[in-house]
Amino acid sequence: MDFKLTEEQLMIQQAARDFAQNELLPGVIERDDAQRFPKDEVKKMAELGFLGMMVDPKYGGSGLDTLSYVLVMEELSKVDASCSVIVSVNNSLVCWGLETYGSEAQKQKYLTRLATGDCIGAFCLSEPEAGSDATSQKTTALDKGDHYILNGTKNWITNGSSAEIYLVIAQTDIEKGHKGINALIVEKDAEGFEIGPKENKLGIRGSDTHSLIFNDVKVPKENRIGEDGFGFKFAMKTLAGGRIGIAAQALGIAAGAYDMARDYSKQRKSFGTEICNHQAIAFKLADMHTSIAAARMLVYKAAMDKDNHENYDLSGAMAKLYASKVAMDVSVEAVQVHGGNGFVKDYHVERLMRDAKITQIYEGTSEIQKIVISRSILRD
Ligand code: CAA
Repeated sequence: MDFKLTEEQLMIQQAARDFAQNELLPGVIERDDAQRFPKDEVKKMAELGFLGMMVDPKYGGSGLDTLSYVLVMEELSKVDASCSVIVSVNNSLVCWGLETYGSEAQKQKYLTRLATGDCIGAFCLSEPEAGSDATSQKTTALDKGDHYILNGTKNWITNGSSAEIYLVIAQTDIEKGHKGINALIVEKDAEGFEIGPKENKLGIRGSDTHSLIFNDVKVPKENRIGEDGFGFKFAMKTLAGGRIGIAAQALGIAAGAYDMARDYSKQRKSFGTEICNHQAIAFKLADMHTSIAAARMLVYKAAMDKDNHENYDLSGAMAKLYASKVAMDVSVEAVQVHGGNGFVKDYHVERLMRDAKITQIYEGTSEIQKIVISRSILRD
């Protein structure tokens, strides 16, 4: 396995690192506190081509590989996981799904706008009673000939109020179970579509998470993605790639927390010396560094599997499972290394610790990743 990055990948990584330090870091505490969506920052990320990274340039994308996308996700997440989840959802779940399975007309109409960052998208699968158990969709899309009538509620939707284009998963034929589910493109101004209140979250507070309500929303048939009944497979395939993006987010959170803990330990003194000279701290740093290196290998491997057109269900789930645990463990330890200062917002690590938790929950909890992994290894 060759993890040596190309010149181009190194340049993209550096561009993301500079952007995160110069543009995201200055306002990140205030955005988190105020739960303020990073509107201006998203605009700048669009200019850098971060919103349609893997999309073909003919649809306005940057035409890059998954590894480049992962490098950007890692750098952004070191500083601001609220910004990186916006990037992740738009790239992995919305653009990738549309480019891979959408019709040419859908790509012309929607993908170009999403990839250029003219607007952002949302992926709407979860429901009040269908989070992990994703086949139990209660939202219905009844077939009315040339259109569907959509009714139901979606929960915990990232980019809930900021998006303009929504990919909505809904049940058309209950008798057919998961084979009766469709994925529909819904525009924000559709009649009967309502955005519920914003969630007040533990972490990633700069991203806007909402429930969405669909009340007799008319969706033209040409807005269905793929064949009738393809919606559940569409969701599963899309999420398999999404998990690589979230694994990269977790990796970045861990790496950001570690960097801060290491730097702090070199300047904070106790018992007459910098605290890094105490084994109690040095051993923590050694463990953090090692687990991050291991997580990075899993995340890059999953990205490379996708780039090499190998199956990435297993490697993506393993990367997400492990990197999200590392994000949680390392960020908790980073707070500990900072002592009392770690508990204070100015030092950033408490935010990274709060942000880390969601990586074990969204795009499939850690338990869901274990289902995907165990099914895969037992099948082989
Ligand atoms: N690729 C293609 N097809 C797949 C697939 C994949 N990766 N995974 C499952 N399928 C197919 C199966 O082959 C099966 O089809 P057939 O009957 O034709 O063979 C069908 O889907 C149903 O599969 P299962 O029987 O395995 O379904 P299940 O009910 O046992 O559940 C699960 C499988 C893995 C638990 C799935 O429900 C799951 O992934 N749940 C988690 C959902 C999730 O990640 N939600 C996150 C919401 S989105 C989000 O968080 C975004 C955000 O805001 C950041």
